[in-house]
Amino acid sequence: MNFSEISRNIFKKRSLYELLLTSKRSELKKSLNVFDLIVIGIGAVVGTGIFTIIGTAITGSPESPGAGHAIVLSMVLAAVACVFPALCYSEIASMIPVAGSAYTYTYATMGEFMAWMVGWILMLEYAIGNITVASAWTGYFIQFLKGFKHVLPDFIINFPIWLRYDYKTISAMCNNYNWDIHDKIPYLFGHIPIAINLPAVGIVLLLTMLLVRGVKESTRVASIMVGVNMFMILSFIVVGAFYVKPEQWTPFFPQEPSGVVMGAFLIFFAYIGFDAISTTAEETQNPQRDLPVAILGTLVICTILYVCVALVLTGIVPINHIDIQAPIAHAISYLHKDWLNWFAGLISIGALCALTSVLLIYQLGTTRILYAISRDRFLPKSWRLIHRKYRTPHIMTWISGLVVIVCGLFMDLNISAALCNFGTFTSFVIICLAVLILRKTAPDVPRPFKVPLCPWFPLTGILICAILIAFSLRTLKTSSIYFLLWIVVGVLIYAFYGYHQKRLEEKGRIRKKVCD
Ligand code: ALA
Repeated sequence: MNFSEISRNIFKKRSLYELLLTSKRSELKKSLNVFDLIVIGIGAVVGTGIFTIIGTAITGSPESPGAGHAIVLSMVLAAVACVFPALCYSEIASMIPVAGSAYTYTYATMGEFMAWMVGWILMLEYAIGNITVASAWTGYFIQFLKGFKHVLPDFIINFPIWLRYDYKTISAMCNNYNWDIHDKIPYLFGHIPIAINLPAVGIVLLLTMLLVRGVKESTRVASIMVGVNMFMILSFIVVGAFYVKPEQWTPFFPQEPSGVVMGAFLIFFAYIGFDAISTTAEETQNPQRDLPVAILGTLVICTILYVCVALVLTGIVPINHIDIQAPIAHAISYLHKDWLNWFAGLISIGALCALTSVLLIYQLGTTRILYAISRDRFLPKSWRLIHRKYRTPHIMTWISGLVVIVCGLFMDLNISAALCNFGTFTSFVIICLAVLILRKTAPDVPRPFKVPLCPWFPLTGILICAILIAFSLRTLKTSSIYFLLWIVVGVLIYAFYGYHQKRLEEKGRIRKKVCD
C-alpha cells in the first residue's frame, strides 16, 4: 500500500446522507423527549463542580490564586467559554442526529483518522472524568454516613481507610498526617498493597446494571436524582438568601486578578456535560427541534443557578472560612442555627444525588460514543451487540463500567479531572471547526438551528478554548504528559487495529456489491 492510498484513506469522510440513513435505521429505541434531554443535561452538568470545586475556585490553592467574591465573574467567563461550542453543538446535532456526538461530526467533516482521535479523546471527558466524580461521590457518602453516627454501628461509619480511597490518596494522607502506611493498608504476599475505593466501585456497578436495563429506566432514575438535587440547591439559595450580608461582597475583586481566570478554569468543570445531550441523538423522538432547545436551555438554567449559589455562599461565609470539601453544606452549618443542622445533612443527600446523576449520564455518554465508534469498525464488532430484551448495547455498557472501576484503582483523581478538561476543550474546538467546515462543504443540508454570526461565533469558541488549553498545558505539567501519552496510544490503536479493520470492512462491502 503506498503513501497516497494511506493518506486518502485516513481523510475519508462519511457522507451526510449515509449518516442520516444510519440514524433512521438505528436499532436504539427512540424514547426521549425534550424534558428527558434537559434532565440528562442538568444531570450531567450539576455535580462535583458546584458542590465541591467551587470551594477551591473561590479560596485558591497553594498552586493558584482564588477568585474570591469575583467567582461570579469566573462563572460567567466559564459559561461564555461554553456558549459558543454549545451553539455549534446545537447546529450540528439538529442537522445530523446520530449517536456519537463530536466523534460522528468529525467523521463527516475531517475524515476517519481525526474522527477516531476525537472519539478517543472524548473518552477522557466521559470515562476518565467519571473517575473524578466517583471519587467525590465517596467523599460525600462518608459525610452522609457520619450523619448517622448515633444510629449505625461504628464499623460501618468508620470503615477501613483501604476500602475508601485509592493507594495514591492513602499515601498522600499518610505523608500529611505522619501515619505509617503499613498500619493503614494490608499487603498481599507482603508486597502488593490493597486499596479499593469500595463505595465508588459499588455505585459504578449499580449504575452499569441500571444502564443495561434501558435508557428510559436510566433517565427516570436520573430525573429523580435531578429533582432532589435541584430542590436542595434551590432551598440553599432561598434559605441562605435570608442570611446574606451584602457588605461581605466587598472587596469584590481578589488581590490577584489572575484568580478570576484560574477560577473560571476550575469552575469550567461544573459546566462540562451539556454535550452529553447530543450523544443520545438517535434515541430522541424529535432531535431537530429538541436537541438545540435542550442544549441551550441546560446551559442557561445552570448558569443562573450557579451564579445564585455563588452569591449566597460568598454572602454567608467569609472567604477565609469557606470549606473546600463540602462548601455548600458547610455554609449552612456556619450559620450556627440548631434548626438548620439537619438541613446541612440534607444538602449532602442533594450532593450525592447530583454526583450519582453525573455518573449515570457520563456512563450513558461513554457507551453511546463507543457504540458509534464500534459501528464504524474501529473497535470490535462484538462490543456493540444489542441486548435482546432491553435493546441496549449491554457489552459496551459493561466495558465502560469496568474501565472506570479499574482505572479508578490506579488513577490520581486530580489528574483525571485535568484530563477530563483537556478532552472537553479539544472536543469543543473540533465542534466549532466542524460547523465552519460544514457551512462550506454542505451549505444546502437543512439546519433546523443555525449558529448566529457565523463564522465569528465558532471562531470565538475556538479562540477561547485554545487559550484555555494553552493555559492548562503550561500549568498542569503531569496531566499534560498523560494527555500526550493518551494521544500516542490512540494513534497506535488506529495504526495497528482500526485502520486495518476499516479496510477489511470496505473490501467486504465492495465484494457484497459485486455479488449483488
Ligand atoms: N459538570 C460535571 C460536574 O460538575 C462534570 O460534576
